[in-house]
Formats: sequence, structure tokens, C-alpha cells
Amino acid sequence: MRPLCWGVLFSCLGCGILPGAWAQFPRVCMTVAGLLKKECCPPLGGDVANVCGSLQGRGQCTEVQADTRPWSGPYVLRNQDDREQWPRKFFNQTCKCTGNFAGYNCGDCKFGWTGPNCDQKKPPVVRRNIHSLTPQEREQFLGALDLAKKSVHLDYVITTQHWLGLLGPNGTQPQIANCSIYDFFVWLHYYSVRDTLLGPGRPYKAIDFSHQGPAFVTWHRYHLLWLERDLQRLIGNESFALPYWDFATGRNECDVCTDQLFGAAREDDPTLISQNSRFSGWEIVCDSLDDYNRRVTLCNGTYEGLLRRNQVGRNSEKLPTLKDIQDCLSLQKFDNPPFFQNSTFSFRNALEGFDKADGTLDSQVRSLHNLVHSFLNGTSALPHSAANDPIFVVFSHRWAFRGFLIFCFTNNTTMDNLEHVLHSFTDAIFDEWMKRFDPPANAWPQELAPIGHNRMYNMVPFFPPVTNEELFLTADQLGYSYAIDLPVKQVPGWTTVFSVVMVILVALGGLFVLLVFLQYRRLRKGYSPLMETHLSSRRYTEA
Ligand SMILES: *[C@@H]1O[C@H](CO)[C@@H](O)[C@H](O)[C@H]1NC(C)=O
Ligand SMILES: *[C@@H]1O[C@H](CO)[C@@H](O)[C@H](O)[C@H]1NC(C)=O
Ligand SMILES: *[C@@H]1O[C@H](CO)[C@@H](O)[C@H](O)[C@H]1NC(C)=O
Ligand SMILES: *[C@@H]1O[C@H](CO)[C@@H](O)[C@H](O)[C@H]1NC(C)=O
Ligand SMILES: *[C@@H]1O[C@H](CO)[C@@H](O)[C@H](O)[C@H]1NC(C)=O
Ligand SMILES: *[C@@H]1O[C@H](CO)[C@@H](O)[C@H](O)[C@H]1NC(C)=O
Ligand SMILES: *[C@@H]1O[C@H](CO)[C@@H](O)[C@H](O)[C@H]1NC(C)=O
Ligand SMILES: *[C@@H]1O[C@H](CO)[C@@H](O)[C@H](O)[C@H]1NC(C)=O
Ligand SMILES: *[C@@H]1O[C@H](CO)[C@@H](O)[C@H](O)[C@H]1NC(C)=O
Repeated sequence: MRPLCWGVLFSCLGCGILPGAWAQFPRVCMTVAGLLKKECCPPLGGDVANVCGSLQGRGQCTEVQADTRPWSGPYVLRNQDDREQWPRKFFNQTCKCTGNFAGYNCGDCKFGWTGPNCDQKKPPVVRRNIHSLTPQEREQFLGALDLAKKSVHLDYVITTQHWLGLLGPNGTQPQIANCSIYDFFVWLHYYSVRDTLLGPGRPYKAIDFSHQGPAFVTWHRYHLLWLERDLQRLIGNESFALPYWDFATGRNECDVCTDQLFGAAREDDPTLISQNSRFSGWEIVCDSLDDYNRRVTLCNGTYEGLLRRNQVGRNSEKLPTLKDIQDCLSLQKFDNPPFFQNSTFSFRNALEGFDKADGTLDSQVRSLHNLVHSFLNGTSALPHSAANDPIFVVFSHRWAFRGFLIFCFTNNTTMDNLEHVLHSFTDAIFDEWMKRFDPPANAWPQELAPIGHNRMYNMVPFFPPVTNEELFLTADQLGYSYAIDLPVKQVPGWTTVFSVVMVILVALGGLFVLLVFLQYRRLRKGYSPLMETHLSSRRYTEA
């Protein structure tokens, strides 16, 4: 049998970017007139009549279709969150592209297609082990990340205010900001998990558009795909693929935390990244969730301190076994009611890490989760960035490891949040599962999943709108593949011998974890609205 190494993908954790082409709102649409009209149908090219490339038959400006089926889960409010029926609170007319055309102005191709008419199948890019990259490829990858951190996103801007404040106090100034390609990625993740803003100091936390439900797999897949495409464009190499991090059993150290890769620890302050690394000067964004909630505002992309990591706290978790992966992959049901973190015998939930790998509920999740919170509590006392607290860093680092360790594999299922660290890995396992079971579209619940997770829901906050269903495909249909051997059939006596497991993580793993970790932590602090606070006279919801 084959070795047992599998990979995982690199999830780029930190990588970020969502490409230029599809993610929050296109710069060109963020005008007062466009926002009032709720229309984002830009012309393609110089001819203003070529709206959505219609003169070339690429698309039409049409009404946005949004899922109106009922949802379940802890978010029980209605019409209180601007992400409901995404993106209709912002735009109700967008370009609908025909055939393989795609993009906010239909100037792009769908993933997996290329050529001027988007009619040529693109040779799949292959996501490989980060340790198997040549020095040139490694430099290409790390250089691309660094460049992405420094390059303003040309096509997309982030919104810095809730939708009712989007035009500014006088209704004349769209509240938007430039941000770098990398930070844009971080912002998107933040936006998908941020609290509902009911008013000053009144966040409603029981909402998550990218985790704890079926969309977990598609959301992170899309995020990675765009990151990959953005990096391809940034460096001008269509063959570029994200690497994955292959993690072998028995190793509890971060073998990508070297100056050659993501940066070693600084000697004088191990929570900082070595000055020999290009990542030592990276600053984080979107970390101050409590502050945003208090001010009823959104992350505006300003820097909130240096990226920190803790290389000291290592965990002693044992690595996942082949059997764990097999168990997870043997779950034939994609998901089960209530399509939430307490679903059982759900491939998705086992993968996401709320169940044991064999699909049964892991009652430890909760206590573990709570443990995490109390563990982290100390850090939140620190000003600005909990990342200043070594415990936090340790923890997040543990998370990074535990993430893949636990993820899908071990008894101690994840603490919800690690997933983003793992998302590439997750995606590789997801892809293996898709190939194995070839599920019909209706394996995905059409209704009664938590908000954002129904099959036809447009994934928040991607723009132009794309449904979960559109990503429920095999990777080769989307133009990429993994150079990974995941356990397929019966593997006899794996337990012993194979100690290898893998994992991946992604490249900026640690980095990204740090970036998003805090907000998650805060997001998860509670599930009830803060009813005791006073209502402000201003309504932040639709009248
Ligand atoms: C789209 O939004 C505009 C602006 O709010 C509104 O006038 C129009 O009726 C909406 N169209 C639909 C089909 O809801
Ligand atoms: C809003 O209008 C007031 C009064 O006209 C003006 O003083 C203020 O500068 C304007 N603010 C913005 C952000 O345009
Ligand atoms: C954002 O960046 C673009 C392109 O560099 C620039 O033209 C624009 O003025 C910037 N906008 C803001 C608000 O900084
Ligand atoms: C493009 O990227 C691929 C994959 O990293 C690499 O093998 C190839 O050499 C690159 N091509 C150029 C022209 O840099
Ligand atoms: C941007 O966000 C930071 C951090 O929340 C805040 O301190 C700053 O005032 C904001 N800037 C603007 C222009 O709103
Ligand atoms: C799952 O969790 C939800 C929300 O906490 C709860 O309402 C529901 O009863 C749980 N379902 C099961 C099967 O445990
Ligand atoms: C956080 O720490 C403070 C002070 O040490 C303590 O009062 C509080 O109970 C802690 N909160 C949690 C959730 O552990
Ligand atoms: C999970 O935990 C149970 C009981 O704690 C134990 O019997 C089982 O061997 C564990 N499985 C793995 C894969 O660690
Ligand atoms: C699960 O994790 C907790 C906290 O790290 C640890 O105390 C416990 O022993 C672990 N349980 C298993 C079965 O690994």
C-alpha cells in the first residue's frame, strides 16, 4: 500500500486573497447612484453599452436570486442582519453570466475554464506538498503572499459600515476602504462570521455563514480557489497552485515555522516572527471584534498590531491515524439534520470536527470549547491584541496543530474554529469523499440548514453571488487536483505501522490562524443577544 502520507493541503492559511474578481463588492459598483439603485451591472470594457458583456453574449443584468427557503439553527431573528438573502440588502440587480463566463461584469471564466471565450478546459493545477516544492517554487509562493499583502486590491473594496450606514452620515459618501489582496481575504472570513449588529453594544452572536453547517466545505473551497486565482494573476503564472502542508505522525513541531517558509520564532521574543523572515513585519487586521460591536461598525482594514505566533506551546496530541481518516471518509451521508454542529453520522460534521471521526457525537466538544474560552480569557484583558498574550499564541498554535490533528481524526474533536487552518486539508478530504460517493445535488439540504447553509443560499460575502450548490463538485471540475493519497479502500492493519498522517495546513497557517483566531473566540462567547442593554433609538434593522 502506499505510503501513508497524505497530505493535506496547504491551506493557505494565511494566504489570503480573494481575488480580484469575486469577493466583496466591486469598486466600480460602490457609487451613491449604484447603491441607491441596488444595481451592480458594470459594462465590460470601454463601451458603456456593453453591460455585463451583453454585446458579446456573455451575460445580462438581471435580478438577484436569493434563497427564500426556511432555515433552522440558532439564528432566530428575521430581517435583522444585512447578510440575510445575501446580497439583496446591497444589490438586487447583478450580472448573470451565460455559459462558462463569470465575474461581476462577466469578463472572467468559471473556475476550470480558460480562453477568450471560456470554452477551453484549463489543465488542472496540482496542489502539492510544500516540502516538495523546488526552491524556485517556494520563493514564488512566499513572494506571492508577500506581494499580496502589499498590493491594493484593484477590483474590490471592503465596506466599513453596516448597510444602513453605507452611504455615510449625509447619504453622500459610500463607506468603503481599500485593502490589500491578502487582507481582503482576512476580511472576507471575518465578515462571514461576524456578529449581527443590533445596536451599540448589542451584538447577536448566534450566526455563522461559513462554519457549523454544510457550507463549511463549499465556503472554504471557494475562498481557497479565489486565493489561488488571485495569486496566479498577481504573479502572472496560470499554473501556480497553492501548496499543502504535509504533517507526519510523531512530529509535534511546526516544520514550516522556519525562516525558509513561514518564519521561525524571534529569539528575543518567541511570540514574534524572526526578522529573517519576510513575515516578521506583517500586521493583522479585523481582530477587534468587540470594538466593532461596541461602535456598531465593521472592520475597516486598519492594522492592529504585528502578527504573532507562539512556538513554545507544543501539544502532545497524537496524530490522526489512517483509520480516522478512513472512518471519516466512510460516512456516506453528506450531512444530517439539524445540519449543525450537533449532526451525527454526517460526513461534513465529522470533517468539520464536531463529531468523532466515526460520525458519533463528541460530547467533549463543548467542554473543550469552554476550556478554550476560559483559557483564552486572560488574553482578552490585554489591550488591543490578545495575540500579545503568549497563552493566546500558544493556544492558537496548538490549535493549528490540533486542528489538523483533531480534525476529522481524533477523539477530541475540534474546537470549532480551527477549521480555517485546515481548510485545504479539509478540501482534499472533501474532494476524496466527492469522488468516492458521487453524491446527487440533493444530498445537500435545500432547506432547514442554519442560515447561509441551504443548498441555494448565496455564500456570504462573495460577490457576485455564488450558491453552495455551484461548488458541490469534484475538484477536477473546478480546475485543480491534489497530489495526495488519501486512504481509499480497506487498509488492513494500519494502526500500528503507519504512523504517518498528514496534514496540512496551510501555508500561512499559523499566520492566518492568528489573524482570525481572536474574532472567532469572541464570536463564540455567547449565543444570546444582550438583551439587558438599552435599545438605542436608532434602528439598525430594516423598518
Ligand atoms: C431593488 O432595489 C431598488 C432600490 O431599493 C428598489 O427600488 C427595487 O424595487 C428593487 N427591485 C426588486 C425587484 O426588489
Ligand atoms: C455632512 O453634512 C454636514 C452639513 O452639511 C457637513 O458639515 C459635513 O461635513 C458632511 N459630512 C460628510 C461626511 O460629508
Ligand atoms: C484606493 O486605491 C485606488 C487605487 O490605488 C485609489 O485610486 C483610490 O483613491 C484609493 N481610495 C481610497 C479611499 O484610498
Ligand atoms: C509557473 O508556476 C509553476 C508552478 O509553480 C512552475 O513550475 C513554473 O516554472 C512557473 N512558470 C514560470 C514561467 O515561472
Ligand atoms: C478603523 O478601525 C479602527 C479599529 O477599529 C478604528 O480605530 C479607526 O477609527 C477606524 N477608522 C475609521 C476611519 O473609521
Ligand atoms: C442541536 O442543537 C440545536 C441548537 O443548540 C438544538 O436546538 C437541537 O435540539 C440540537 N439537536 C440535537 C439533535 O441535538
Ligand atoms: C475572565 O477573567 C476574569 C478575570 O480574571 C474573570 O472574572 C472572568 O470570570 C473570566 N471569564 C471567563 C469566561 O472565564
Ligand atoms: C476515543 O475515546 C474512546 C474513549 O475515550 C477510546 O475508547 C477510543 O479508543 C478513542 N479513539 C481514538 C481514535 O482515540
Ligand atoms: C481531550 O483534550 C483534553 C484537553 O486538551 C484532554 O484533557 C483530554 O485528555 C483529551 N481527551 C482525549 C480522549 O484525548
